[in-house]
Amino acid sequence: MAQADDHHDGVFVVFEGIDGAGTTTQSQRYAAWLRARRRLAHVTREPSGGPMGSLLRLVITQRVSLPATHRDAAMALLFAADRLDHVESEINPHLRDGYVVISDRYDLSSVIYQSMSGADEGPERTAFAAWIRDCNRYARRPDVTVVLDVSPEVAAQRRRNRGGASELFEEAELQAKLARAYLKAEEILPGDRIVHVDGDADVDAVAAAVIEALAPFVKEGP
Ligand code: TYD
Repeated sequence: MAQADDHHDGVFVVFEGIDGAGTTTQSQRYAAWLRARRRLAHVTREPSGGPMGSLLRLVITQRVSLPATHRDAAMALLFAADRLDHVESEINPHLRDGYVVISDRYDLSSVIYQSMSGADEGPERTAFAAWIRDCNRYARRPDVTVVLDVSPEVAAQRRRNRGGASELFEEAELQAKLARAYLKAEEILPGDRIVHVDGDADVDAVAAAVIEALAPFVKEGP
């Protein structure tokens, strides 16, 4: 985490939310804002661009299928492995060089997406979510996570506008469940620093709210 007196320290920021919440747009907007203030910023995302992340993208776009039995567990394991590789190969080196590293999704996505797309609410799902957290035990903690809270309807409209091939988790009922889970993100990752931003507004208004929410955690450049 950046010290008040040293703006060269790296800061690890994560953006989270349902599909269409605006994590990609807002990651890029925030990085541009930082760069304009002479702060080094590096945007990355999960699944990462590494070998395991590339495999995961094929699964998400439904060009590769995993065995149906325990598919969510297999996905969680692949995401966790991709994450460790991502931290070591890309996130840590940039943090060491003093960048603000902005990751479009991290392990909150794993706990929410993989646990919600399987078991119904109840002890089984709670245990599965705890197991996913445990799989990510060695993943570096973000300095701060921004959850973009959007209504499922707004997010669905954005996905329609964006077009493209249909993805694995796009079903409306699932997205509504995911949105409710994101509202309670701090219960899912207790101990993490999490800020919520209302993501329903237009892009500029959300970008301004993100800047304000992150101001206590990220110093501008010299
Ligand atoms: P992507 O096309 O990048 O979606 P978005 O632009 O909305 O982030 O695909 C990422 C998908 O992968 C998204 O549906 C969320 C899902 N995902 C998981 O299920 N678990 C995870 O751990 C991560 C990082 C992503």
